[in-house]
Amino acid sequence: MTNLLETERLIIRSWIPESDAEQAFVIYNDPEVTHFLGSRVTSVESQRLRLINENGNGSWAIVEKETTTIVGTILLEQLPDKDGLLTQDYEVGWHLRRASWGKGYATEAGRAMLNYGFSVLSLPVIYAVVKPGHHASIRVTERLSMKPIGRTNKYYGIELLLFKLDAPEEWRVSREQGVGGAGGDEGE
Ligand SMILES: CC(C)(COP(=O)(O)OP(=O)(O)OC[C@H]1O[C@@H](n2cnc3c(N)ncnc32)[C@H](O)[C@@H]1OP(=O)(O)O)[C@@H](O)C(=O)NCCC(=O)NCCS
Repeated sequence: MTNLLETERLIIRSWIPESDAEQAFVIYNDPEVTHFLGSRVTSVESQRLRLINENGNGSWAIVEKETTTIVGTILLEQLPDKDGLLTQDYEVGWHLRRASWGKGYATEAGRAMLNYGFSVLSLPVIYAVVKPGHHASIRVTERLSMKPIGRTNKYYGIELLLFKLDAPEEWRVSREQGVGGAGGDEGE
C-alpha cells in the first residue's frame, strides 16, 4: 500500500483490494453515485477484481483521516479516445460515496491531484470531462478554477463537457530552474 498524498482532512493512497472491496462496493453499488458513471458494480467480488485492475492505473482511494473510512476515489489518468486507446491527455476525476457529499472532499482531493500532476508528473495541462447536466461535478471544476472549453466528442466516444487547467507559472519556473517539483505535502 502506498500513500500518495496527504491533505488537511484526507489521505490519498493506493487500493488494498482485499480489505477495501467492501467499502468500495458501497460506493459503486449505489445508483445515486453511478447515475452519471454508467455502470453499477453488482458484487463485492467483482469490485475486488476492479480494484486489482485499477491499482497503478491512476485510480486512488480517498481516506478520511478522522475516521479512516474510504470516502471515494480520485483519478488522474490518461483519457481514452473514441476507440478506447489512451491519448496523451490526462484527466482528473472524482467519485465520492453518497454519505460524504457536501463536505468539500472532491475539491480537496482534486486540488491535491492537480498539484501532484503539475509538480511531480510535470504535466503541462490537466483536463476534466463531465456529462452535460452533471451540475455537482461542474461545480467541482469551478471550485478548482478549471476553465470550461465547451463540448467535445474526442474522448470515450460520447459528447462531454471539457474543462482544463494549465500548469501554474510557479511549476514551470521551478522546472526550468531545476528546483522544487517532486514530492512534498500536496495539501490545501
Ligand atoms: C461529483 C461529486 C464528487 C461532487 O461532490 P460534492 O460533495 O458536491 O463536491 P465537494 O466534495 O467538492 O463538496 C462541495 C460541497 O461541499 C460543501 N462544503 C462543506 N464543507 C466544505 C469545505 N470545507 N470545503 C469545501 N466545500 C465544502 C460546499 O459548499 C459544496 O456544497 P454545495 O455544492 O451544496 O455548495 C459527487 O456528487 C459524486 O461523487 N457523484 C457521483 C460520482 C460522479 O458522478 N462523479 C463525477 C463524474 S464526472
